[in-house]
Amino acid sequence: MNYDVADTALAAQGLLRIEWAEQHMPVLRILRERFAADQPLRGQRVGACLHITTETANLARVLIAGGAELALCASNPLSTQDDVAAALATELGVATFAVHGEDRNVYYRHIHSVLDTKPTITIDDGADLVSTLHSERQELLTNVLGGTEETTTGVIRLRSMAKDGALKYPLVAVNDADTKHFFDNRYGTGQSTIDGILRATNILLAGKRFVVSGYGWCGRGLSERARGMGAHVIVTEVNPLRALQAVLDGFQVMPMAEACRVGEVFVTVTGDRSVLRKEHFEQMKDGAILANSGHFDVEINLVDLAGLSTEQREIRQNVREYRLADGRRLYLLGEGRLVNLASGEGHPASVMDMSFANQSLVAAYIAREGQHLEKRVHSVPREIDEEVARLKLAAMGIQIDRLTPEQEEYLNSWKVGT
Ligand code: ADE
Repeated sequence: MNYDVADTALAAQGLLRIEWAEQHMPVLRILRERFAADQPLRGQRVGACLHITTETANLARVLIAGGAELALCASNPLSTQDDVAAALATELGVATFAVHGEDRNVYYRHIHSVLDTKPTITIDDGADLVSTLHSERQELLTNVLGGTEETTTGVIRLRSMAKDGALKYPLVAVNDADTKHFFDNRYGTGQSTIDGILRATNILLAGKRFVVSGYGWCGRGLSERARGMGAHVIVTEVNPLRALQAVLDGFQVMPMAEACRVGEVFVTVTGDRSVLRKEHFEQMKDGAILANSGHFDVEINLVDLAGLSTEQREIRQNVREYRLADGRRLYLLGEGRLVNLASGEGHPASVMDMSFANQSLVAAYIAREGQHLEKRVHSVPREIDEEVARLKLAAMGIQIDRLTPEQEEYLNSWKVGT
């Protein structure tokens, strides 16, 4: 088996943690049984670029049960859990290329190692695999039936590829499934971002001025959870509708030019670059904590931060102190990479259960229908989204009502009014 992981001796520990996650992933357990019986991925080579976590390992097991040959690389240099990578490579038979802390060169070398397996289906989180395939490995494009994308940032990148006429195979935006972003982005990011910040710093959130930049699904979830911990939450936005939602959700909204003067913890979740930059660092309070939970490490301008600092040191694991010329200290968490995975374990398994159920079912859909799909960004078929919701509710032992025939008829008729 071809792989590159940090330490194969960690495999036993990785397996135990994968088993723990599995206990919280009932939908994936059901799909694994179904896939083992139906073999929807038989003959497919799946190349996946994902965070290498216990949850991803359980997705891997479903894909393999369905007959796929799987190669996996990391979608972020700091999110790899080395024990899981070891277990995937040596115990689960997945060609795994991922080492926690790998540099940019190794990160891309690992993407190329996955592409070397000539995938027929791609699964991506952030679109680095797809963009490398389209820009540097075009000879492989003819093998590919289709692919999926896990995250908001990746979907935005793919849409811009499609707009430029650059997209050479069909992609399905798993992120946009209701059973993905309503839950993973909101509750997953909300909880895991707080978890990452607390693991790195062990600060008390109660009473802190906590600035959330970006009020998409991730920002909403994070604001809600920070409020739940007693923080005083301030939201910054560029979109008037989202800003208005934040106001009516009860948060204080102001521009970053003001927030930077009062905030004690700053978290960016916008998907855009330089959200925190020189003009903001210059005004921040001594001791301000800076974290990012957006996909790429571009939201906090690290060049500006380094340029302003006279001294730097790692004061705790995942906490870098930047001392500025006037003596103020700013603290950057997890190198400005997504803090929930860099200093935490990412979203909890029970929410990834839904995201990865979508990934599994969409991979099978691509194996079935890929040849007939146009080369553009597609939505997850509604039946898949509803199936995931049904399976999750059933696993939770929750039943819901059905429309009566009379109600059904009423909804389908325009005749009955006042
Ligand atoms: N993205 C966010 N959290 C994750 C997790 N636990 N596993 C894989 N991808 C993730």
